[in-house]
Amino acid sequence: MPAIVIVGAQWGDEGKGKATDLLADRIDYVVKFNGGNNAGHTVVVGDQKYALHLLPSGILTPGVIPVIGNGVVVDIEVLFDELTALSSRGVDVSRLLVSANAHVITQYHRTLDKVTERFLGKRQIGTTGRGIGPAYADKINRVGIRIQDLFDENILRQKVEGALHQKNHLLVKIYNRRAIAVDEVVEDLLGYAERLRPMVADTALILNDALDAGKTVVFEGGQATMLDVDHGTYPFVTSSNATAGGAATGSGVGPNKLDRIIGIVKAYTTRVGAGPFPTELEDESGEWLRARGFEFGTTTGRPRRTGWYDAPIARYASRINGITDFVMTKLDVLTGLETIPVCVAYDVDGVRVDEVPVSQSDFHHAVPIYEEFPGWSEDITGARTFDDLPKNAQDYVLAIEAMSGSRISAIGVGPDREAIIVRHDLVN
Ligand code: GDP
Ligand code: IMO
Ligand code: MG
Repeated sequence: MPAIVIVGAQWGDEGKGKATDLLADRIDYVVKFNGGNNAGHTVVVGDQKYALHLLPSGILTPGVIPVIGNGVVVDIEVLFDELTALSSRGVDVSRLLVSANAHVITQYHRTLDKVTERFLGKRQIGTTGRGIGPAYADKINRVGIRIQDLFDENILRQKVEGALHQKNHLLVKIYNRRAIAVDEVVEDLLGYAERLRPMVADTALILNDALDAGKTVVFEGGQATMLDVDHGTYPFVTSSNATAGGAATGSGVGPNKLDRIIGIVKAYTTRVGAGPFPTELEDESGEWLRARGFEFGTTTGRPRRTGWYDAPIARYASRINGITDFVMTKLDVLTGLETIPVCVAYDVDGVRVDEVPVSQSDFHHAVPIYEEFPGWSEDITGARTFDDLPKNAQDYVLAIEAMSGSRISAIGVGPDREAIIVRHDLVN
């Protein structure tokens, strides 16, 4: 099983970083295929805690070749900051490869992200403010800057001029901000070119060759299914394809090469930013989950919204991604609850709806229909086999597995690297 895709099956922060790290000592390459430094993956290795944003989590494992694919938007300053911070902690970052076709996040994308959010007022999305949406908008509008443009000053200047022509009118006349000088942006980008040059490669060619040679490649998704620009809760989404199809387009590897699609779910649900969230708890149970699960954003530090497990969402993710295996994380967080509600369907205007409604308006006022499962009070953080779990915890996992559309192959019982129960091998 050489090509393994890891995707978030809810609204992000499911523990994708930990899942990648779990596989990392058995893989050769790890590819980030979508998003940018809006992602935040926390990986705990021994007494060391790492927060990764732009770099794929597999970079922490010696010998793995990390790749930033063409589907990523790269803030180069952030890239170098992250590389410097990791190498100062002894992580070897020298093997990183960056696609020549990846797009660049510049100063004007960050500025536009912030001003457009402010102007949306009550309708704001709650973006991470990293310039992600404006950079992808430029890509689709065909006025984006690609990594390879940094090596041709004339082309770079022309493209920055083209991009700023309209944007400066917007910034000055609509948003009341100062115009951004072409020279400033060009110089800024050119300043990174020589340091970047050795990392830049035809990553699609390298990855295809690696797969042909029988190497193992993990495609690590940022964000998640419900934040996907096509399949998520639009417009309250990110601007890329965070679902499994994005692994193919965002890396240049054909979809028929993808062998295994691993969906990561939390044993409950969280969301950062605005948008519908049927099982959200705005009471002390929600506070309890937030405190117990330490649910604060890795990127922006914002408190995450919290709620119970939503089975229709997991089934939806299972379909949209073609999930072969789920990894369920954070089961330990639920320890101590007398009963645990799980959303099994929704009530939409008095009608029972078993699947995620296609109408966004319906989803906005879908009321969860819950089934209650008995909880457990034993500490499960030391469990390493399914049989080590208390009977009620086993039953909770099995019930969720039956409702979620794919088997649950691993269960997280704590943030540490070792705190995992593997039921089915995720690589072979
Ligand atoms: P990602 O964006 O999907 O990689 O997830 P984040 O790193 O943003 O958020 C997941 C958080 O949960 C991190 O702080 C992890 O260290 C932590 N975590 C992952 N798996 C488990 C688990 O099984 N139990 C507990 N208690 N924490 C976990
Ligand atoms: P990881 O990879 C959770 C959310 C933002 C906002 C929306 C759009 O750590 O799971 P953007 O800046 O992407 O334009 O913001 O998407 N969002 C995330 N939420 N985890 C993430 O990444 C996210 N990346 C973006 O909060 O609602
Ligand atoms: Mg995260």
